[in-house]
Amino acid sequence: MPVIRLHPQFGAALENIMSVTQLRAGGNPLSLPRVTSDSLLTKKRTGHPITALTAYDYPTARLVDEAGIDMVLVGDSLGMVVLGYENTLPVTMDEMLHHTRAVARALRRAFLVADMPYGSYHGSPREATHNAIRFVKDAGAQAVKIEGGGVRAELVKRLTDAEVPVVAHIGLTPQSVHSMGGYRVQGKSLDAMDRLSADARALEDAGAVAIVLEGIPRELAARITAQSGVPTIGIGAGPDCDGQILVFHDLFNLTFAPAAKFTRQYADGAAFFSSALQSYRDDVAAHKFPSDAESYHLSREVQAAIAATEPRARKA
Ligand code: KIV
Repeated sequence: MPVIRLHPQFGAALENIMSVTQLRAGGNPLSLPRVTSDSLLTKKRTGHPITALTAYDYPTARLVDEAGIDMVLVGDSLGMVVLGYENTLPVTMDEMLHHTRAVARALRRAFLVADMPYGSYHGSPREATHNAIRFVKDAGAQAVKIEGGGVRAELVKRLTDAEVPVVAHIGLTPQSVHSMGGYRVQGKSLDAMDRLSADARALEDAGAVAIVLEGIPRELAARITAQSGVPTIGIGAGPDCDGQILVFHDLFNLTFAPAAKFTRQYADGAAFFSSALQSYRDDVAAHKFPSDAESYHLSREVQAAIAATEPRARKA
């Protein structure tokens, strides 16, 4: 497999002695204005689709940002796709803050939303507010996302009053996996459609800046989107939402699971990484890595000094 050198300056005349990620200087090198909840609203009003994706670490967040994606969500899906949990329920505040900080360091343009993990907003309103503020104050998020319908409206208002913009999330809400009896498409009956439409209205009235619609029929997502004054961001909700979001690892076939119907794999990351890993293993096993060119050397002077002393050393 050909070896790709993305940074030709590394390993060249000036030795770089660490594996480093080149951090960007402060500011916004692309001079692009930062995406805000207002600019997302403008996109809805002018019919320009909002692009959104999850990210959980510095390098992928940076690639997502540089690709011009409008919104980056540090989703609690990280529990499953990054941390190897069975579902999102065990994810902690500390884990979410840790990953949100890494993503915040990478973004220059995208609107950064952090997922509040299960249990972090289900107790007292005071504790929920304290936790939400940590995402903005300590981790650099521009908004938090919470799952649930009208039952969360009071909390959305409270957080909004505390200057924490809230993205709501209704439909298939993975933190409710046990109460939903599994991951099932929601809103399929007339009653359920009306309930979800009412949820969306209540959350918008409470101040939500956007609403994620997950795992609901296309027709219902279209109805909620038409009725809503704030952007809807769909995942498994059809093409009529104001924007679309996917999980990064679904896009790149990095979940070790068959793709769900609503995802689209844009690249086979698993095959790409596997092939490179096998080449590396083979090269090391065959003494082909590292090469002489990939090794550090003594200077000519030191080599000459050693050569001069070696015969004497041998004689002694
Ligand atoms: O956690 C997550 O990644 C999400 C998206 C699926 C919307 O909530």
